[in-house]
Amino acid sequence: MSVTSERSRQIPTADDVTIANLFADPYPIYHRMRAQAPIHWVPAVNRYMVVGHEACHTVELDDERFSADETNSLMKRAMGHSMLRKDGAEHDVDRRAYGGVLRPKSIKTRWQAVFENNYAIYAQRLRDAGPGADLVRDFAAPYAAENLRVILGLENATQDDLQRWSQTLIDGTGNYADDPEVWAKAERSSREVDEAIDEMLRRRRTDPDDSLVSILGASGMPLDALRANLKMTIGGGVNEPRDALATTVWALLDRPGQLSTVRAERRWIDAFEESIRWIAPIGMYPREVTADTVLAGMELPKGARLGVVVGAANRDPEVFEDPDAYNIDRPRKPHLAFGGGSHFCAGAWVARASVVATALPRLFEDFPGLRRDDSHPVEVGGWVFRGVLSLPVHWN
Ligand code: HEM
Repeated sequence: MSVTSERSRQIPTADDVTIANLFADPYPIYHRMRAQAPIHWVPAVNRYMVVGHEACHTVELDDERFSADETNSLMKRAMGHSMLRKDGAEHDVDRRAYGGVLRPKSIKTRWQAVFENNYAIYAQRLRDAGPGADLVRDFAAPYAAENLRVILGLENATQDDLQRWSQTLIDGTGNYADDPEVWAKAERSSREVDEAIDEMLRRRRTDPDDSLVSILGASGMPLDALRANLKMTIGGGVNEPRDALATTVWALLDRPGQLSTVRAERRWIDAFEESIRWIAPIGMYPREVTADTVLAGMELPKGARLGVVVGAANRDPEVFEDPDAYNIDRPRKPHLAFGGGSHFCAGAWVARASVVATALPRLFEDFPGLRRDDSHPVEVGGWVFRGVLSLPVHWN
């Protein structure tokens, strides 16, 4: 690692970091970087990566200095201009329009029953796939996608559509290589989502209900913003609960002592929160510096593109002792897996209700002797988004 230019001379350059290494296992890289400095210029990522917990949290809380509205945003190209790329009042208007749809009261009165029903459907699918089934493909992914499909109110789509849209739109958001094939798929999904939304908006105009599409349609939000916000929610609302669920199951299966404590004391929430600290489903998100500034004692120029690496912040030894260990008994300290500040995840209650209150306890109840298929290693991958790619399981 060397040292960069005049302006940011205090900031080291991590020129040995590669995307392939980050994808395989980013944590040793983050530890090495963090030990040297909380911010690095990383040529392979073409950004300053912020890897210290305190620095990441400072960025999250200050959208005047650190804007979410990035120049030449790939997310805006893939999905349109959603609240996730807006700051201040402009952001708040969109976020307020979501009303109570993703909040505890609606979950209690409306969505909890949906999660339970979907749990039963996809637990049966897992059972039908038989021992050796892949917990990600045969349960977590369709369960998360179907939950979101119902909340959005896309009666004219299937959970398979949601999975495909989510993946291809996210791939567009991360298309730093400008691969035309990736753009083609993202654009196709974007058109399909627009058509599905437009049709549902027409239906709900005369027959409103409590789905997100209906509530946003009635809110007066301009169509472009409405479409962008729903695409962003599809991008964020499928993979993250899927990954959080599968990672938690994997962590517990490999730690029978912690699993028996969790089961005996009903500590599913601790198992879940520790899992998203340990492997944050969203590992990095972007911000842009609005004026020359100093962060964590380091100079950043106006226009600097940042990666807020919550995957690294969540393993900062300044905050979490023995940070690489999965430990449900560690002292509760704020992790950054749901983000922070004005963009704090709008779906955190949905994730907790569908994963913690429903799927996790029921899976361990309904599949006695649930265990990993030792003949197939667990596949884990990613760094911007990280999760268990495949988790073959057996049960009695
Ligand atoms: C464990 C599961 C989840 C995790 C770890 C997670 C993580 C995050 C993070 C880190 C952000 C902020 C990103 C940034 O500031 O750039 C975010 C925002 C958001 N998430 Fe989630 N998410 C999860 C589940 C969900 C679900 C299930 C939904 C939808 C039902 C959802 C909807 C949203 C929305 C709409 C935003 C944008 C909020 C805003 O800009 O104000 N998320 N999420």
